[in-house]
Amino acid sequence: MIVFSFSDYKAIGQAILESGENTAGEFEIKTFGNGELYCDVATNVDGKECAVVCSLVAGTELQSLLLSHTLKLLGAKKVTLIASYLGYMRQDKREPGRSMGSIWTGALMRSSGIDEVITVDLHSELAGKNLEIPIRSLVSTPVFAEAIGYFIDQDTMILAPDDGALEAARRISDALPNKLPVNHLNKVRTESGVTVTANGKVSSRVIMVDDILDSGGTLVAACKVLRGLGVKDVIICVTHGQFVGTKWQELFEIGVSKIFTTDSLPKIPSHDKIQIVSLSSIF
Ligand code: R5P
Repeated sequence: MIVFSFSDYKAIGQAILESGENTAGEFEIKTFGNGELYCDVATNVDGKECAVVCSLVAGTELQSLLLSHTLKLLGAKKVTLIASYLGYMRQDKREPGRSMGSIWTGALMRSSGIDEVITVDLHSELAGKNLEIPIRSLVSTPVFAEAIGYFIDQDTMILAPDDGALEAARRISDALPNKLPVNHLNKVRTESGVTVTANGKVSSRVIMVDDILDSGGTLVAACKVLRGLGVKDVIICVTHGQFVGTKWQELFEIGVSKIFTTDSLPKIPSHDKIQIVSLSSIF
């Protein structure tokens, strides 16, 4: 396979390169004066299987689609999009008058010649179905299970901020040498923000598991509830850290002592309480 890695995903790209008899592909994404993208591929891909290593994330999504399309145009036999973060998947359910980003993304992928998608902690099974393209979602579980070992004491539990993240929370517990209690909070998102309520007893130390930290609003609302219930310490494990705006910084004022996040996305803020754990080992 010829592996075309975008520069922000070199570590994952290197892991994929080393996982088999693969070679690195050379390409460059450029822009005309008016900002229109074009793409030059310097590696012969005729009849070859190719992988594009990237994230499908707002702002650069067209780059990976254009590269995929170009590879197919140049004769690639198969194009696999390896997107450590697959954006737009939160638009997975029909809501009156609202777009369906997951269906749209699938249409764009198919028309860009993508044959298969590999991602990590896909937002939901439904989003995967909406893509109408073969997809494999790897799990970050081993990476987080290893990271949190040091923080577990006798009164620790794993919590998901909503029921959507419960399965990931359970998987982490199952991967530990001794399972921990697992539960989820109840989350309601309205136009005016996120409301979270507890769902039973909580431990004094909580490991909170979610797939995405975008603005941090969900986790801030969850941690405020936990604080009100007397929780002393919260450790966050979030796969895709976007850290948009400044809201997430409130987490450190309401009991969060550590955020573990992965390298599925670039530009993780540098902060002594944020630790990046690499996904390289799962590829
Ligand atoms: C929602 O379903 C996701 O799993 C995340 O909880 C959510 O998207 C995070 O967004 P924010 O950080 O802006 O609350």
